[in-house]
Amino acid sequence: MIEIEKYIRDVQDFPKRGVVFKDITPLLSNAEATSYCLEQLTGFCENMAINKVVGIETRGFFFATLMAQKLNAGFIPIRKPGKLPFDTLKQPYTLEYGMDTLEIHEDAISKGDRVLLHDDVLATGGTARAACNLIEKLGGEIVQCNFLIEIEFLKGAQKLNNYEVRSLLTY
Ligand code: PRP
Ligand code: MG
Repeated sequence: MIEIEKYIRDVQDFPKRGVVFKDITPLLSNAEATSYCLEQLTGFCENMAINKVVGIETRGFFFATLMAQKLNAGFIPIRKPGKLPFDTLKQPYTLEYGMDTLEIHEDAISKGDRVLLHDDVLATGGTARAACNLIEKLGGEIVQCNFLIEIEFLKGAQKLNNYEVRSLLTY
């Protein structure tokens, strides 16, 4: 048992004043702590016959790729606008201030794929909700949304109330 909290650094006023940023780089730089988190996260979704793991750019990529390997599933990136080279499906979403868009390659998911969605942080839930919409538009079945960290008071899980949501750490 490893105390993961020790490897997550609070950075005050980043990226803007009043925000406390949960920095996972100390965790990623420690092989033992990273491996422990990977075990826990894949433990959430064992025996669910997942064949695709979708990670959200940027910080969702770290554990999503590791999990995909461990679950013997394919890894699919959801990216910020203009980054994916092939034909994409686009989903605008609301940020705390303003709007952004997420994209997925239109051939990345097939009808009936059993999909695990992963991101590092669940905050307001806008990002994950947009990702779920993209996956479902392509015919994927979302079997779980999992996160390293959930910021509970922002109530992101409410935006994902039709899915199973699991988080390793809650603040
Ligand atoms: C952060 C975090 C999640 C998202 C959560 O990503 O990594 O993806 O915000 O916020 P929400 O639940 O309120 O939508 P960010 O957009 O800062 O980009 P990054 O991963 O590229 O750093
Ligand atoms: Mg992110």
